[in-house]
Amino acid sequence: MIEKYVGKGNSKYKIFISNRIIPSIELNKYIDKTSKVLIITDSGIPKKYIKTLKDQIKNSKVYLHTIPQGEASKSFKIYQEIIKKLVKLKFSRTDMIVAFGGGVVGDISGFAASSYLRGIDYIQIPTTLLSQVDSSVGGKTAINISEGKNLVGAFYNPKVVFISTRFLKTLSEKEYKSGLGEVLKYSLIDNEKLRALLQSNTKKVLNRDNKILLKIIEESIKTKSKIVTKDEKEEGIRAILNFGHTFGHAIEAHTNYKKISHGAAITLGMIIASKISLYEGCIKDYQLDNIINLIDSLDLDSNYSKYKFSDLKKYIFNDKKVADGKLNLILIDKKFKAFKTNQFDQNNIKKAFI
Ligand SMILES: NC(=O)c1ccc[n+]([C@@H]2O[C@H](COP(=O)([O-])OP(=O)(O)OC[C@H]3O[C@@H](n4cnc5c(N)ncnc54)[C@H](O)[C@@H]3O)[C@@H](O)[C@H]2O)c1
Ligand SMILES: [Zn+2]
Repeated sequence: MIEKYVGKGNSKYKIFISNRIIPSIELNKYIDKTSKVLIITDSGIPKKYIKTLKDQIKNSKVYLHTIPQGEASKSFKIYQEIIKKLVKLKFSRTDMIVAFGGGVVGDISGFAASSYLRGIDYIQIPTTLLSQVDSSVGGKTAINISEGKNLVGAFYNPKVVFISTRFLKTLSEKEYKSGLGEVLKYSLIDNEKLRALLQSNTKKVLNRDNKILLKIIEESIKTKSKIVTKDEKEEGIRAILNFGHTFGHAIEAHTNYKKISHGAAITLGMIIASKISLYEGCIKDYQLDNIINLIDSLDLDSNYSKYKFSDLKKYIFNDKKVADGKLNLILIDKKFKAFKTNQFDQNNIKKAFI
């Protein structure tokens, strides 16, 4: 079992990474003093996992709350239902929530935990690759409102995170590949070891080999936690985690968040950002080729020709990323280190789409 620490000071927490489905001794150490536990999960999580989890919790009374699978559940309505359930079950400040599912479950459970009685403890057991390498690290919690995604939320770290590669066996190909997009991102922004691992183990990665999964999850978390620990409230360096996201989000918005997964969209976004990095003289031709080859060998889609600059323009230049009339972009340099800049030729964005 691999153990990692994330965060600093009072909100520091541990992440366990293993191929055991639930490490029950460790789990019970965190739950022991709690009299009640509410497991929040979604309708797409295989029932056998839920049974195993319930069986492992020894000394507390366990309740289950299942929300419908999908992004639509990250809503005010479902949030309210969770809060009402906690009230009905008379949860006190010493009771606990266990978020058991992907990023949707993690985000809404974390937000409920952050706000119920001004904050109760929660544990994350992320079951998708994306939630294991991304949303369970960094303490961001949120729900969506009609005005926009993740507009209501809080920074609120879990007590502990338990990651198991075993959950990933039942994940659909689309969801697995979506998580792989974020793994690839870490390998391009600040993790040479991870890039080498991906490059020399593409078959094993595609076959979801346990050993390689443990390594790539560990490396991904190392990079994310290094960045978020330096910048807990997203004031500086954390921006580099958005590599590929300006264009990826534009693709997602243009397709109404339906046709393409987040990871697939940001993978295309990373190619566009890498091309701009090339035109700006930050990386060399062969490095762009290497990136595209890696994407192809991981069986991720690298063809963004169906997305036109003219369609995506309005999303790319939305208010959030434009400061003083200048767009901020995350580019990469020759050493595959990402950096934020607004000093680039804006024509290169259009050129990257050709
Ligand atoms: N808080 C953060 O820092 C952060 C970071 C990245 C993303 N997010 C959020 O995460 C969400 C996306 O998370 P996601 O990609 O995990 O999607 P998700 O939570 O919607 O899960 C995807 C699907 O996989 C199913 N599933 C989950 N685990 C499974 C398993 N082991 N086997 C079979 N099926 C399984 C779920 O039922 C669901 O239908 C978005 O709402 C996004 O905003 C948050
Ligand atoms: Zn992302």
